[in-house]
Amino acid sequence: MFKFLHFLLFLFLFFSRNFLIFALTSPQDISALKAFKASIKPRSIPSWSCLASWDFTTDPCASPRRTHFTCGITCSSDSTRVTQLTLDPVGYSGQLAPLVSQLSHLTVLDLSDNNFFGPIPSSISFLFNLQTLTLHSNSFSGSLPNFITNLKSLEVLDLSRNSLSGYLPKGMNSMSSLRRLDLSYNKLAGSLPKLPPNLLELALKSNSLSGSLSKWSFDGLTQLAVVELSENSLTGAVEPWFFALPALQQVDLANNSLTRIEISKPANGYSDLVAIDLGFNKIEGHAPVNFSAYPQLSSLSLRYNRLRGKIPLEYSKKKSLRRLFLDGNFLVGKPPLGFFAGEVHITGSLGNNCLQGCPGSSPLCTPSQKPSSICKQAYGGGGRA
Ligand SMILES: *[C@@H]1O[C@H](CO)[C@@H](O)[C@H](O)[C@H]1NC(C)=O
Ligand SMILES: *[C@@H]1O[C@H](CO)[C@@H](O)[C@H](O)[C@H]1NC(C)=O
Repeated sequence: MFKFLHFLLFLFLFFSRNFLIFALTSPQDISALKAFKASIKPRSIPSWSCLASWDFTTDPCASPRRTHFTCGITCSSDSTRVTQLTLDPVGYSGQLAPLVSQLSHLTVLDLSDNNFFGPIPSSISFLFNLQTLTLHSNSFSGSLPNFITNLKSLEVLDLSRNSLSGYLPKGMNSMSSLRRLDLSYNKLAGSLPKLPPNLLELALKSNSLSGSLSKWSFDGLTQLAVVELSENSLTGAVEPWFFALPALQQVDLANNSLTRIEISKPANGYSDLVAIDLGFNKIEGHAPVNFSAYPQLSSLSLRYNRLRGKIPLEYSKKKSLRRLFLDGNFLVGKPPLGFFAGEVHITGSLGNNCLQGCPGSSPLCTPSQKPSSICKQAYGGGGRA
C-alpha cells in the first residue's frame, strides 16, 4: 500500500516536472520580466496588484495562474512566449527596464496611468511585433526617440500625458501600419513632419508645435478622420487642401495662432466633416460662407478670432448645424433672422461682436455685444465693413 502511494507520488512529481519542462516560458522572457519588475520601486507595488503576484519561483506562463502571475501578462498558446504586457493602473513607479526588448513576441505594451519616469529606452525599437504601445499618463521624459519609427507593425502609439520634449521624428511617415497617434499633453516642439500614410487619428493637443499646416505633411492621408492639434503655436493659413482631406470628420485647431482660413466647397458636394473648432486663433477676414456647403457639418466654432463683416445668411439656413460659436469677433450688421425664427435649432453664441439688433431674448445673443467705441475703433471710426 505504502509502496503504491510512493509510486503515485513519484508519478506525480515526474509528470509535474515534465509539465514544467514542456510548458516553460523562454528564459529570455523570464529574465526580461525579472528586470522589468526589479526596476520598479517595491514601495509602489501594492500587495493586491498584478506585479505583486509575479513570483518567479513559478513559471510565468504555466497555467492555471491562480496565485502567481494572475495578471499583467498574456502568453502565447503554447505558454512559451509573453505576448502582452498590460499593467494595472495602480501608480507603479520606476524606469522602464531596457531589457523589456527581450520580450520579442510582445504585441501589446500598455503601462498607462502609472508613474513610470525617465527615458523610453531605445531598445524597444527591437520589439518588431509590437502593435500597441500605450504609455499614456506617466512621467516619461526626454525626447521622443527616432527609433520609434522602426516599429513597422505598430498600429496604436499613445504616449499622451507625459513630459516628452524635442521634435517629432522625421522618418515618421515610414510607420505604415500606424492608425492612431496620440502624443497630446507633452512638450513637443518644432513643426509637423511628413505623417504616416494610414493614420485615422492624429492627436497632438497641448504641445508647443509651431510652423504652418503644410500640404506636404498631410499628403496622401486618405483615411485621416480626426485631427486634434489644439493648444499649440501653429501659424499661417488653413488652406483648401486641408478641408478636402477625403475622410476628414473632426478637426480641432483651437488655441493656436492661425491667421487665415481658405475653404472651397467640397468636391462633388460630398464630405464627412462634422465638427470644426478654430476658436481662439488670430483669424482675419470674413466668416467663410463655404462652411455651409459641407453637408454633415453640425458644429462650427470660430469664436475669439478677428473676423469682420456680416454673418453669412447661409449659416442660418443650414439644417445640419447644431452648434455655432461666432462670439468674440468683430462681426457687424444684423444677424440673419433665421437664427431666431425657429427654422433651425442652433445653440452657441453670436455675442461679443459688433452686431446690431441681436435680440436679447435669444440665448444666442449672450454675452452682449462689444461697446460701440471698440467697434468704431476696429472699423477705423464708424464704417460698417
Ligand atoms: C483656449 O484658450 C482659452 C483662453 O485662454 C481657454 O478658455 C479655453 O479653455 C481654451 N480652449 C481649448 C480648447 O484649449
Ligand atoms: C468657395 O468655394 C469655391 C469653390 O468651391 C471657390 O471658388 C470660392 O472662392 C470659395 N469662396 C470663398 C469665399 O472662399
